[in-house]
Amino acid sequence: MSSERTLRVGLIGAGGIGRTHLASYDRVREAQIVAIVDINEEVARAAALQVGAQVFRSVEQMLEQVELDAVDICTPPAFHLEVALPAIERGLHVLCEKPLAHHPDAARQMVRAAEQRGVYLMTAFCHRFHPPVVALKRLIDAGDLGEVVMFRNRFAGPFPGVEERWFSDKEVAGGGVLMDTSVHSIDLFRFLVGEVARVQAVVRRTNPAIGEVEDTAIALLSTSDQRMGVIEASWVLAAGFNVIEVYGTQGAAMVHYWDGFRSRYKTHRMDDWQPLEEVGPDRFVGELQHFVDACLGRTPLLVTGYDGLRAVEIVYEAYAAAGSQ
Ligand SMILES: NC(=O)c1ccc[n+]([C@@H]2O[C@H](COP(=O)([O-])OP(=O)(O)OC[C@H]3O[C@@H](n4cnc5c(N)ncnc54)[C@H](O)[C@@H]3O)[C@@H](O)[C@H]2O)c1
Repeated sequence: MSSERTLRVGLIGAGGIGRTHLASYDRVREAQIVAIVDINEEVARAAALQVGAQVFRSVEQMLEQVELDAVDICTPPAFHLEVALPAIERGLHVLCEKPLAHHPDAARQMVRAAEQRGVYLMTAFCHRFHPPVVALKRLIDAGDLGEVVMFRNRFAGPFPGVEERWFSDKEVAGGGVLMDTSVHSIDLFRFLVGEVARVQAVVRRTNPAIGEVEDTAIALLSTSDQRMGVIEASWVLAAGFNVIEVYGTQGAAMVHYWDGFRSRYKTHRMDDWQPLEEVGPDRFVGELQHFVDACLGRTPLLVTGYDGLRAVEIVYEAYAAAGSQ
């Protein structure tokens, strides 16, 4: 660790979410992106210009030439394992974008390698850090909603051009909308309700150009004591709500995304809905700050590689239940 206690981070993959992370590090305390790797050198150079980082063509080159404390993996899922392992072997902490891997076996290898080397592996489940979700988790933990009985999470909308991108290539993505989008929802269910004991699912391919993967899915999750959740996801719907709903024996709460509605909650003691708000940074800054704080020993790591592995395992159980893999 550098003497000024600044975490030196290497960014691997500077595409869409890589650039979101890069912009967010600006607002993260005690971290600096010092190196960037992307197999597309132009992409890496453009990103590096923003932060004055060194550019590399391969992870191995970067690891040989730069002193780092951690890496932040933002490549497509099928490459997460191959770029994580050399970093873990060098004793670096790893933040890895969701899904942790394209297949449970690869995710398991990552978790095992990090455990054996004694480094942190965090799965980038950004929604846990969305300020209204932070407030919702606090309400649940305080018992304000009573026993949580039902959960619903809908992340659906249009994804123009998905058929041209790796998201619809099963080899690279590991699946379709369930693997890409519902992996967040599964993690939210585990975070807010409890461990998943049973999975049922229905999947559909609406856009024939999309190839092998599903673009629409519903999964039904339940815990061992029959608390239940519905997860809805699609890439082909023109409009609709993106929402997390939690219903308990003494109250309910709703977190809205991108639709102009306010996140709100109501308990049996209240006459009307109240705003569900939390002052704090946006979910990407919150997620990165948590990783940095954990690596610097300031907080225990709260979102682990195991959480990422469980979510990928549950996605695979959903595919099996839907008869689609
Ligand atoms: N948390 C979120 O909200 C969120 C949003 C979007 C994407 N993601 C996840 O982030 C990851 C990346 O998605 P994206 O949308 O940024 O994809 P993208 O295609 O926009 O970017 C991926 C980048 O990785 C580079 N790359 C590919 N293989 C590489 C390798 N072996 N080494 C180095 N660089 C490599 C590509 O050249 C590209 O620049 C995926 O796992 C995706 O599911 C998460």
